[in-house]
Amino acid sequence: MKAALLSRPDPNPGISDLTCLTPAESRRLARIRHGGARRQFVAARHTARALVAERLQVDPSTVRLRQRCSSCWSDEHGLPEPVDETYVSWAHASQAVVAAVDRDAVGVDIEAIAQFRDASPGLVALMCTSDEAATLPSDADERARALTRLWTLKEALIKVGETSLGAMRDCHLGLVDAGQEDGTFQHNGWDLTTVEWSGLAIAVARLPGERRHDGHQGGRL
Ligand SMILES: CC(C)(COP(=O)(O)OP(=O)(O)OC[C@H]1O[C@@H](n2cnc3c(N)ncnc32)[C@H](O)[C@@H]1OP(=O)(O)O)[C@@H](O)C(=O)NCCC(=O)NCCS
Ligand SMILES: [Zn+2]
Repeated sequence: MKAALLSRPDPNPGISDLTCLTPAESRRLARIRHGGARRQFVAARHTARALVAERLQVDPSTVRLRQRCSSCWSDEHGLPEPVDETYVSWAHASQAVVAAVDRDAVGVDIEAIAQFRDASPGLVALMCTSDEAATLPSDADERARALTRLWTLKEALIKVGETSLGAMRDCHLGLVDAGQEDGTFQHNGWDLTTVEWSGLAIAVARLPGERRHDGHQGGRL
């Protein structure tokens, strides 16, 4: 598995970033009005293409990313399809995007910890099991960190099909050691990794197996 983080995406994407878009991606981008969302859209795909290309040993400009929605079958959104048997996932937060590739199903998520500082009781009830909710730290910073870890880990699990938004409250991870900077643990056969970087929590769900060659290096996870 390899993951990469791109912080503060370039507000002016290069022409190659735009010409690498598939017709489906171009159609979707054309409907996105907000500048920040457009930047995230392009940057996420740039980062994902670079990782796929590195794994397949091809030029990134030759990689075409495709998605398929399992609800409406649109090719403009939904689960990213593997590229030549390389599985890929990406996610965006306001100031950063993250992508991951693996030889089998992989899901990645990223969120700003600050977003969970004022998490409402309703959100906590939606995303936590009752045990998780009952054991959240009382300190506001630690609570936000714990919630962001849980949210990103469960979203990563949604992306590999292990849970869903509606079933988050039944997906028990327990409180991922809030005193630890990052960690990997197992859940229902998935390897889960959670990392904090610069006010962001990043989570990856993947199947165990392949020898890891990831590590903190430059912007890489
Ligand atoms: C998958 C989901 C949890 C992503 O969370 P999010 O906070 O909105 O966005 P993130 O930045 O974390 O991730 C977005 C990426 O997840 C991936 N993704 C989208 N749907 C996915 C799915 N069903 N399975 C796995 N990955 C998916 C895409 O790569 C997407 O990138 P894009 O928006 O640039 O195309 C959320 O979009 C969701 O619940 N989708 C299901 C909703 C649905 O079924 N819609 C049907 C519309 S017809
Ligand atoms: Zn759809």
